[in-house]
Amino acid sequence: MTSPEPTGIVVLVSGSGTNLQALIDAAADPAYGVRILAVGADRAGIEGLRRAEAAGIPTLVCRVEDFASRADWDAAFAELIGEHDPAFVVSAGFMKLLGPAVLGRWTVVNTHPALLPAFPGAHAVRDALAAGAAQTGCTVHVVDAGVDTGPVLAQATVDVAGDDTEDTLHERIKAVEHPLLVQIVGRAAREGITVSEGKASIP
Ligand code: GRF
Repeated sequence: MTSPEPTGIVVLVSGSGTNLQALIDAAADPAYGVRILAVGADRAGIEGLRRAEAAGIPTLVCRVEDFASRADWDAAFAELIGEHDPAFVVSAGFMKLLGPAVLGRWTVVNTHPALLPAFPGAHAVRDALAAGAAQTGCTVHVVDAGVDTGPVLAQATVDVAGDDTEDTLHERIKAVEHPLLVQIVGRAAREGITVSEGKASIP
């Protein structure tokens, strides 16, 4: 029996790309059903892009500072992503807010290192520690126009230790984040993802 064609995705990164690596590793198995068509970034010279290159995946870089406005950047980014014609987009440690040109064209699945709606924003791990949370974790959700406000697909919990630093806690979050993202992206690819009236579901 031949496997069905894999679902093509574009993955967006801004940094070390360990979540991207987890997806690259999973996609090596044809049964996973995902082909990473390209990796996009908002900056050059990052480990995430090197991981893509090492895996033979095309890369694209679209820097906000190269455009006159955020809207121009958003339109250009959508154009570059569109060249690869993905079924959906995965934001895996991508640190810029996406605009309507991208969000209007694709479902974007994001991973966030906290239990949303707690601790949205760019410093979620630091904020959970500072608040004295006993538990935090990660959330895989669909991106909407807000900051980490889109409908949740799945979450995993991590206990905060008394001696945790931002780095040690983030490492333990990533240990549960990688398999959760792999699981949800695979299911979305194989079974489809529906977003309607602010709710997201994978059958
Ligand atoms: C992840 O924890 C992600 O949730 C957050 O930033 C981290 C990115 O890590 N937004 P990496 O680049 O995948 O290693």
